[in-house]
Amino acid sequence: MIKANLTFFTIIGFFVLNSCGTNQKNDQLDQRVNALLAQMTLEEKVGQMNQYSSFWDITGPIPKEGSAAKQYDQLKKGLVGSMLNVRGAENVRKLQKIAVEETRLGIPLIFGFDVIHGFKTISPIPLAEAASWDLEAIETSARIAATEAAAAGINWTFAPMVDISRDARWGRVMEGAGEDPYLGSKIAFARVKGFQGDDLSAPTTIAACAKHFAGYGFPEAGKEYNTVDIGTQTLHNMVMPPFKATIDAGVRTFMNSFSQLNGIPATGSKYLQRTLLKEQWNFDGFVVSDWGSIEEMVEHGYADDAKQAAQIAVEAGSDMDMQSLAYIDHLIDLVKSSAVPETLIDDAARRILRVKFELGLFDDPYKYCNAEREKSTIGHEKFQEVTLEMAKKSIVLLKNKNQLLPLKKKGLNIALIGDLADDKTSPLGNWILAADTNSAVSVLEGMKAYEGNNLEFSVGVKLHTGVLEFAKELNINTSDKSDFTAALNLAKTADVVVMVLGEHGFHSGEGRSRTQLGLPGLQQELLEQVFKVNQNIILVLNNGRPLVLDWADQHIPAIVEAWQLGTQSGNAIAQVLYGDYNPSGKLPMSFPKSIGQVPIYYNYKSTGRPTLPSPDEVFWTHYQDEQNAPLYPFGYGLSYTTFAYSNLKINSQNDTSIDVSVEVTNTGNVQGNEVVQLYVKDHFARPTQPIKSLKGFELVDLNPNQTKTVHFTLAEAELGFYDNDGKFIVQPGDFSIYVGGDSTTELNTKFKL
Ligand code: BGC
Repeated sequence: MIKANLTFFTIIGFFVLNSCGTNQKNDQLDQRVNALLAQMTLEEKVGQMNQYSSFWDITGPIPKEGSAAKQYDQLKKGLVGSMLNVRGAENVRKLQKIAVEETRLGIPLIFGFDVIHGFKTISPIPLAEAASWDLEAIETSARIAATEAAAAGINWTFAPMVDISRDARWGRVMEGAGEDPYLGSKIAFARVKGFQGDDLSAPTTIAACAKHFAGYGFPEAGKEYNTVDIGTQTLHNMVMPPFKATIDAGVRTFMNSFSQLNGIPATGSKYLQRTLLKEQWNFDGFVVSDWGSIEEMVEHGYADDAKQAAQIAVEAGSDMDMQSLAYIDHLIDLVKSSAVPETLIDDAARRILRVKFELGLFDDPYKYCNAEREKSTIGHEKFQEVTLEMAKKSIVLLKNKNQLLPLKKKGLNIALIGDLADDKTSPLGNWILAADTNSAVSVLEGMKAYEGNNLEFSVGVKLHTGVLEFAKELNINTSDKSDFTAALNLAKTADVVVMVLGEHGFHSGEGRSRTQLGLPGLQQELLEQVFKVNQNIILVLNNGRPLVLDWADQHIPAIVEAWQLGTQSGNAIAQVLYGDYNPSGKLPMSFPKSIGQVPIYYNYKSTGRPTLPSPDEVFWTHYQDEQNAPLYPFGYGLSYTTFAYSNLKINSQNDTSIDVSVEVTNTGNVQGNEVVQLYVKDHFARPTQPIKSLKGFELVDLNPNQTKTVHFTLAEAELGFYDNDGKFIVQPGDFSIYVGGDSTTELNTKFKL
C-alpha cells in the first residue's frame, strides 16, 4: 500500500518548497526577467503579448500562403508569445524548437489548453465535482489533470472557471462551482493548488488561470455572452470572493470575460484589471483576454475599430491577446505614435516572461516534451481509480421513496432504458478536446459488471440526431418515437426500471443556453409512458445544470443526480445504485420547481414583505402560480442512511472569534458521509445582507449509531462583508447560526457581536 502511494506521488509530483529561499528566488527571477526585457525590441515585447491557436498541422508541410503563412513567419521572428490548442509532447517540441532555436532571443512559448476537468482521463464536470464538497478530492482531480496535460506538452490551463452563477439557463454553469461564493472560493483555491502544486517549475504542474474576470456568470436572462448589469453588493460579495481565493492560492494567470459589466466590456475594464486585480490584490501574474475579446469590443460598441480596441485593452491591463490579432497588428504603431506608453508594453511583457521563468521554461524549454513520460503517464491506471472515487463523491441522491435504492444484487429483472444509458461520449461533457470520444464507461457497462441480476437494455428514444461537434448546435430528436414500444414492452415485465435521462454532454457548456429546463426532446413523454406500465422507476439524471424536475419528483420514487461524471461514469453510477457506495453529494445549485423562478438561489435578500400577511392577500413577495421555494435547495442531498443534528452551541466567544459545535449522529443502518453545513444570518446590516450565507462546512464519516462533534470557528472573514465601495467590514449586532444537512435547516442558535 505504502509502495503504491509512493509511486502515485512520484507520478503526480510531490514537492515541498523551502519557503526561506522564496524571497531570494523572487529577486533572482526579477533580475533575469529585467535583463531579458532590456535586450528586447518593442516588436519582440509585443510578440510576447500575442497568442495564437494552433494554425497549421504541425506534422504537415510548412504553410506557404494565407494567414497561416503569416503567423508562421511571425513565430520565427519572435512575434508570438504563446500558443493554445497544441498538444502532444512531440508537437509541442517542434513548435518550441522554432521559438528557441530560430528566433533572435530564443524565448520559449507558453502552451495553453483548456484542461477543464481532465485531459485524457476525464473527471466529473466541475459543477458535479462541486457537489462532492470534498476539497481534497477536488484538488487531487485537478492535480491529475495537470499531470496528464503536462506530460503532453501543456504548461498552462485555462481553468478554473470560478464564475458564480444562479441561472441554470446559462449553459456554462457546468464549468463552475455553482451559486455560492463561500463554497466557490474554497473550491477555487483547491483547484489552483491542484493545477499548480507547490512548485510551478516541476514537470507535473502547470499554471492555472482564474476566469472569467468578471461577472460572466450573471448574463441577463441566462443568455450566453449577454450583458451583465449587477450592483456593487453582488459584485463584491458574490462575484469577487472566488477570484480573490485564487489569488490567495497563488494563481499565476487570469482570463478576462467576453461580457460587458455595467456598461464596460470586462476586457477593457481598467477598474477590474488594474485597480482591483493588479493594485489592490497585488497580482503579479498576467491577464489573457478571452478568445477574440479584444476585438469584440468593437461589436460591443465600445471601440471604433481593432486599433482602438487594442489601446483600450492594453491600458486596462489585458496583457495577452488571445486570437484577435489586435495587439500584434496595432500595438507597435500605437507606441510609436505615442498613443500608448511603452511602459505598459514592458509591464505586460514582464508579467508574461515572469510566468515563463517560473515554469522553468528558460532552464529547459522542452521539460514538458518528453514522449516517454507522455506514454507512461497519460491514462495511468491510478488516475482511473482516483477519477472513479471523484465520480462517486459527485453523485447526489435526490429522492429515495420506500428505500427503492440500493438495488438488490441478485434475482432482479432490471430494464435499463434511455439513450444516455449506453452513451460513452456524453459523460465526458463538452470539454473533450484531448479525450477520445466513446471512452467513458457507460451505465450499461457499469451495471453489467453486477452479474446477479438479469439486465436488459432498450434505448427508449434517441436523444439527438446528427453529428456531435464542440462548436455546433446539438440537434435534439423531437419527432422519432419509434423506439418507445420496445422500451415499454421491456418495462412492463421488469421488477425495476432504471431510466437514464437528461442532457447530452454537448447540451450544456459555452454557447449552450436554454429557455426550457425540462428533460430535452421526447424524454419526458417516454418517462410518463413508462410510468404508466411500471411505476418502480429509478431515474438517473445526466445533466450539466439544474433541471426542472417537478413531475418526476411527484411521481418517480427514486432520483439520482449523476451529472456528467467523466471517464468512470458508468462504474460510479452502478456502484451507487447497488449500494457499494453510499452517496453523499449535496447540490451546489438550487433546482427550481419552474423555469419562471430562475434565477433562484438560497442566499437572497429579504424584501419588505417576505411573508403572507393573512390568507388570500396578494401584497407580499410571491408568485400567484408557484411557490417561492426551489424543488431541491442548495446543499441538499440524501444518503442511504439518515443523520440527526443536536446540541448546537456556542462554546466560546472573544473579540476575534466564536467557536461553535454541533453533534451529528448516524441514525440509520449503514455507514455514511455527511456534509455538515453552517450558515450565518446577520439580522441587521447596512448594506443589507442575504437571509443566510454559508460560512463553514465539514465532511464527517459516521458508522451506524456513531456520533461526532463537529467544531466550527467563525472569525472576521465569516462574519463580515464588503460594502458598496468594496471595503470589507464587520458590523456589530445580532447574528444567528444555522447548522444542518442543507440550506433550509432550522436548527439554530444566536449570538451578539
Ligand atoms: C472560452 C474560454 C476558453 C477559451 C479558449 C473561450 O471561448 O470562453 O473559457 O478558455 O475559449 O479555448
